[in-house]
Amino acid sequence: MLIAIDGPAGAGKSTVSRALAHRLGFTYLDSGAMYRCVGLLSLERPGEPPATLAAGARIELDGNGRVRLDGEDVSEAIRTPEVSEAASRVAADQGVREALVAKQRELIAAGDWVAEGRDIGTVVAPDAALKVFLTADPRERARRRAVELGANEATVLAEQTIRDERDSTRAHSPLQAAPGAVVLDTTGLTVEQVVERIVGILDRC
Ligand code: CDP
Repeated sequence: MLIAIDGPAGAGKSTVSRALAHRLGFTYLDSGAMYRCVGLLSLERPGEPPATLAAGARIELDGNGRVRLDGEDVSEAIRTPEVSEAASRVAADQGVREALVAKQRELIAAGDWVAEGRDIGTVVAPDAALKVFLTADPRERARRRAVELGANEATVLAEQTIRDERDSTRAHSPLQAAPGAVVLDTTGLTVEQVVERIVGILDRC
């Protein structure tokens, strides 16, 4: 069984997905971490096509937020603003998407998953048991992310706006709610309240 959680940056996807997976005893898949790994590689090896980097990357996710890339722990290195920007750029490349979607489908083929990203309900797992599209007011999203990173809120809002725009308007798998997705606005809600709502929806499924 798979629960798809999609939405823009700072909508609370990671925290909610991890808490939900824990609560249900499912495994958590952070698909964004994979795009971040390819973004990091593209900064380190700018001469190589991102799709080649994506196809060759050995990405290991432990489900608790630790990420290894070609054997090296990059859990912190992939969270910088530079890598966020690079991830969003390489994520617009169809070859990158094909390589990473294939890796994701291989992972989710067996077991129970809460998978988080931008295109889980639309592309990776359109037959998900439940699809949730998390949103929140852009200012609140920037505020949350600024607290998380210890960064300036106005700077985060400016970077977030560029990334949202690119993610939503790209030709391949643009960020959008999947048909049949439950749209949940998390503005003003705590993580626990969001998790409760999703569990409530699951119970009624
Ligand atoms: O944590 P945050 O929402 O800021 O970003 P993320 O989920 O780690 O994803 C980083 C970037 O990867 C996004 O801005 C997207 O461009 C891209 N991404 C994607 O295209 N498809 C996914 N399934 C997940 C992430």
